[in-house]
Amino acid sequence: MDETHIVVLAAGKGTRMKSQVPKVLHRISGFTLVERVLRTAEALKPSSITLVVGHGADDVKASLAGSGANFVVQEKQLGTGHALLQTRPLLEGKSGVVVLLSGDVPLLTSNTLRSLIETHVQSQAAATVVTADMARPFGYGRIVRTNGRISRIVEERDASPAQRKLTEINSGIYAFELAPLFAALDSIGTANNQGEYYLPDLVAIYRKQKRTVATWTVERAEEIRGINSRTELAEVSAMVRQQKNEELMAAGVTLIDPATTYVDSDVVVGADTVIHPCVFLEGSTKIGVACEIHSGTRIVNSTIGDRVCVRNHTVVTDSTVEAGSFLGPFAHLRPGSQVGEDVHIGNFVELKKTTMGKGAKANHLAYLGDAIIGTATNVGAGTITCNYDGEKKHQTVIGNNVFVGSNSTLVAPITLADGAYIAAGSAVTKDVPAGALAVGRARQENKEGWREKRRQKPTS
Ligand code: UD1
Ligand code: MG
Repeated sequence: MDETHIVVLAAGKGTRMKSQVPKVLHRISGFTLVERVLRTAEALKPSSITLVVGHGADDVKASLAGSGANFVVQEKQLGTGHALLQTRPLLEGKSGVVVLLSGDVPLLTSNTLRSLIETHVQSQAAATVVTADMARPFGYGRIVRTNGRISRIVEERDASPAQRKLTEINSGIYAFELAPLFAALDSIGTANNQGEYYLPDLVAIYRKQKRTVATWTVERAEEIRGINSRTELAEVSAMVRQQKNEELMAAGVTLIDPATTYVDSDVVVGADTVIHPCVFLEGSTKIGVACEIHSGTRIVNSTIGDRVCVRNHTVVTDSTVEAGSFLGPFAHLRPGSQVGEDVHIGNFVELKKTTMGKGAKANHLAYLGDAIIGTATNVGAGTITCNYDGEKKHQTVIGNNVFVGSNSTLVAPITLADGAYIAAGSAVTKDVPAGALAVGRARQENKEGWREKRRQKPTS
């Protein structure tokens, strides 16, 4: 087959977003709009992908560093025809097909693109336009047909009242034969309401040259929805979420309330896991089978093993939790935490870059940072690893079967060897040998009869 070159238009400002952030960098379910378009494009294994950037060009380029895409800058946004013309230095003289995508149309599927290319090649067209039938076509360019064949595209602003009634719209997605493209783009003018170079004018130009222009109509018009405002961003986000939730349920995951379940596109969840309302699973998160994830929980870029119970209002970021463990309610696993099998992390326990061995427990009110904690060790309520001396972070190493009594402060760097026993309320500043008891607190003194004596003291 001919070479396929993809061009993505992403230079526009997105005025109606009212944002400092370029429109194509707004996110839906974990990915920017333009990342979504690139993922669709990459599925076609094209010969090249070129982004036309302009408004916020540096931010858009930086966000896609490492994607392998080429960038061309459209300094002034003079219209979609002018935007495509910017790819001339990269594409002119090459053969094959250019597929033009829009950076703000994130729901488009690679299957639709395959159908577009197939139609384009079979009909030996100079251009093929993806169209859709829309009950409310307001704002879109309309497809004007003569004797059933597309003759031109007219923009909403330039359309006559009769043309505005047409419901077949231009999606802004096209396939173009490369050979005649750039010469034709040169002949696009600006005689329209906006004084811009309109790419859709190519249709009338080609028809005048007696070249073939074909159309491909998508089955689901939602697929080509563009995002121009925050309202549209929210509506399309809801569609993406619903689709993901349906996939999860089809794979055996129970969602108590899909309407309030927020799962990013790449998240994996095992069968028989139950997800309660208002749960957020983000980024590259993977959840095992038969887990229970309770309300108010947010899990980001983390791996959770099988049969883990995450109780309400727990936050887990860049961490791993192995099978059979319990987290929360109100637990906080900060980046770099590794929780072994059958571990219990209870309410108001915070971990940071901390490893907990199999069967270890920290059930209440603790801060465990930069610590390695062995198997079956019990960390009492109120335990704090003092990992920061104001300048540097230090490590706490706690062995297997250690008992850390409640309200202990462990001043790092420090090691508590296997089987050590820390008396409650200790400030531990020295290493504790295996099996030893450490008592790091003032000895209690009881003054017998003190209260009665005070009562009898004459008051002055
Ligand atoms: C465009 C089409 C319209 C179609 C609609 C589908 C034109 C003139 N009209 O209208 O027929 O129904 O898309 O959504 O093409 N862009 C640039 N540089 C520019 C101008 C635009 O890169 O100078 C980019 C934008 O960032 C955007 C895309 O091209 O990604 C489309 O531009 P936009 O202004 O949104 O065109 P519409 O008015 O939506
Ligand atoms: Mg648009």
